[in-house]
Amino acid sequence: MLTPAENDLLCRVEGDAPMGQMMRRYWLPALLTEEVPEPDCDPVRVRLLGENLVAFRDSEGHVGLMAEQCPHRKASLFFGRNEEGGLRCLYHGWKFGVDGQCLDMSSEPPESGLCAKVRHKAYPVEEAGGVIWTYMGPAAEQPGFERPVFAPSEGTRVSILKIVSQCNWAQGLEGGIDSAHSSSLHSTDMPAARVAGSTATGTAWARPTTDKSPHLQVHETDYGFRYAAIRRPIQNSATHDYIRVTTFLAPFHIMIPPNNVYNVYQMSVPVDDHANIIYLIAWSDTTAGVDLEAWRKFTGTQFGVDLDRTYRKLENLSNNFGQDRQAMKLGSFTGIKGFPNQDIAMQESMGPIADRTSEKLGASDQAIVQFRRTMLQAVRDFQAGKKPPGLGVRASDYPGYGSWERVVPKTTDWRTFEPFGVKLAAK
Ligand code: FES
Ligand SMILES: [Fe+2]
Repeated sequence: MLTPAENDLLCRVEGDAPMGQMMRRYWLPALLTEEVPEPDCDPVRVRLLGENLVAFRDSEGHVGLMAEQCPHRKASLFFGRNEEGGLRCLYHGWKFGVDGQCLDMSSEPPESGLCAKVRHKAYPVEEAGGVIWTYMGPAAEQPGFERPVFAPSEGTRVSILKIVSQCNWAQGLEGGIDSAHSSSLHSTDMPAARVAGSTATGTAWARPTTDKSPHLQVHETDYGFRYAAIRRPIQNSATHDYIRVTTFLAPFHIMIPPNNVYNVYQMSVPVDDHANIIYLIAWSDTTAGVDLEAWRKFTGTQFGVDLDRTYRKLENLSNNFGQDRQAMKLGSFTGIKGFPNQDIAMQESMGPIADRTSEKLGASDQAIVQFRRTMLQAVRDFQAGKKPPGLGVRASDYPGYGSWERVVPKTTDWRTFEPFGVKLAAK
């Protein structure tokens, strides 16, 4: 439970809000590479931390990310022409390069020299792992760019789904670290599997447990925290535990335990106070994994079928997420198709900013409580002049993977047991 002031401090990111100001110190996912796939392609709108931006790829292949409103008289550059090395405003023809420099100003006499003096607000960008990243903070504080943990090398197989969700980023984030909900909300998609070994078999998401009330243990780290959700396995429950370790990396990254085939990573990126973008990433450093089309089909995030071209869901709160009560009678737990859709249905149903002042939290909400504690402490420290946590974390810090799931003997200490050779520092 939070006070109204704490809830605002955690959730609000627009303008001068401290959380938004702190997030500006990180490299942030702005859009997917697939949205600006080739030189001179269509520009796209981007909204991040309450700021309206436009992204485009120039004739040379460089990506620009600049304020959407033209500096001349504020027409939207989204409607602009992307050609010959820049984005040209339709209204009076001012043209800008990816760095925001005005390149042409046909409406003014050349001798005015105004063109050379106009530099539009543009943010630096980097491309890695199928994502275009940007830094929106003060230039003097700009950290070096590090490859994302989910794409340690160019060769990593990465499949990303993107969904715009009409609720605050913290709701999306809390959904990702809430281990207990899977046993109910996703029980139709992630059934228990009757296996004795270390991993479940059957579907990729099958689990070797029917235990719906995990016991949680938290381990604070300097980049955020990890937690173990400990459940009774179907077999050998007297001597073994089924453990799922989830890692939270500030400000909004979650390493979800892998399934049998690929690793999973989530980012809940604030669009503004009332919307966030969920990126759910399946990745593998081997030839295993899942291809993009299969990933989006499995998760119900295909263009034209589930999403429009701006990654907004066709089934949403306005049509009750297509919930099928008849399907529920026939065995579906939710009547809602696709597990991201199930998640977002619950998250959006809490309202644009969930009221955390009157919740009734239980033992299984320990990770949620830790997330709030970690981020509230981080933002207070930031206001006091300290460096935000998790800045500069490198993919090479995770030589295997920061999260895991396994049936292990009860004598195992999950905090030091790293089945993939990962070594993560404690606080
Ligand atoms: S408003 Fe863009 S050139 Fe005039
Ligand atoms: Fe979920």
